[in-house]
Amino acid sequence: MDFQNDLILRAAKGEPIERYPVWLMRQAGRILPEYKAVRGALSGFKELVETPERAAEVTIQPVDILGVDAAIIFSDILVVPEAMGLEYQMIEKKGPWFEKTIRSEEQLKYANVDFDVEDKLSYVTEAIRIANKELNGRVPLIGFAGAPWTIFCYMTEGQGSKTFSEARKILYTNPTLAHELLNRITNVTIKYLKAQIKAGVHIVQIFDSWAGILGDAQYAEFGLKYLDKIAKEITEVPVTLFAKGASNSNVKLADMNCQTIGIDWNTDIAETRKIVGENVTLQGNLDPCALYSSHKEIEGLTNEMLNSFESKRHIVNLGHGVYPDVNPEKVKTFIETVKNYEIKYK
Ligand code: CP3
Repeated sequence: MDFQNDLILRAAKGEPIERYPVWLMRQAGRILPEYKAVRGALSGFKELVETPERAAEVTIQPVDILGVDAAIIFSDILVVPEAMGLEYQMIEKKGPWFEKTIRSEEQLKYANVDFDVEDKLSYVTEAIRIANKELNGRVPLIGFAGAPWTIFCYMTEGQGSKTFSEARKILYTNPTLAHELLNRITNVTIKYLKAQIKAGVHIVQIFDSWAGILGDAQYAEFGLKYLDKIAKEITEVPVTLFAKGASNSNVKLADMNCQTIGIDWNTDIAETRKIVGENVTLQGNLDPCALYSSHKEIEGLTNEMLNSFESKRHIVNLGHGVYPDVNPEKVKTFIETVKNYEIKYK
């Protein structure tokens, strides 16, 4: 594939770059009025996810409107548990909700692995094909999946939670069940990421959004082990691993078969670089709330972050997804500041 702009791929691989690439987690959807218009013409979030032409359209909006250096396919991490047998609803202002949950061996029947992943999630691969056709090489397309631990949280808890105590309870009361479910999620996720790659994504990110609710030892056993399994299998494109809230584990992520690790905003980039060494790209990490400050302050905070980089191996992003009520003009200031920054490490 010939790209007009392949900065993110070069940065991921540690190749020379003329400036740092920038994109935002959750850039597709949420903040743009143009997204809300497309979504408003349909019955809701799920119809948008499952309609490849529309999903491709909102995938490209941030490239056209915000000028980011990569597109991320519009979908959700929850399509995997649904494909396995746990249907979800996306409830307005509340978030995801599953009617059934998995808390016993008997309920493992809602976590199937014996199905054709590519066929069942063909609405995602179709959206990838359409998005790439419309992008026509302007920027690379990012594929993604939830990490097994984060998917486990939703499959056992059945909804969002501040503590995910139902999910964590199982780690103590039935670790065998936990490992069985995590293994199943891992196997489906590997097939799913490979299907996305076959359909045309150029880099993949694995979101472990709830990594931070486990202690280090439990995260090693129930989280990292499965991330490692996935990373080992994905050899076709660069891999980004993001374990939000688990910065103690970043050194272990850096040793896995990945090119990039995501850094949340609580974690110091310069410190992380000292710990993980030079052979990995760091992605992040402006506080998403910084985008509520003035244009001038955003410029200052972004430059401060960029000045803390001591390597070319950076992809600029927020430390987590962009919040829904952020003004897109503020996002543009963030992006423009990164684009105007003169890189010291070529
Ligand atoms: O990055 C992108 O823009 C691509 C699309 C994307 C969505 N979800 C679309 C979405 C991605 C990468 C995700 C990942 C995702 N989904 C994660 C991991 C990343 C993270 O933020 O930690 C998680 C935990 C989910 C699960 C999920 N989906 C929740 C908890 C919610 C409700 C609250 C929220 O974040 O909005 C969703 C809904 C969702 N997924 C929306 C979008 C655009 C909002 C739905 C709408 O009202 O249009």
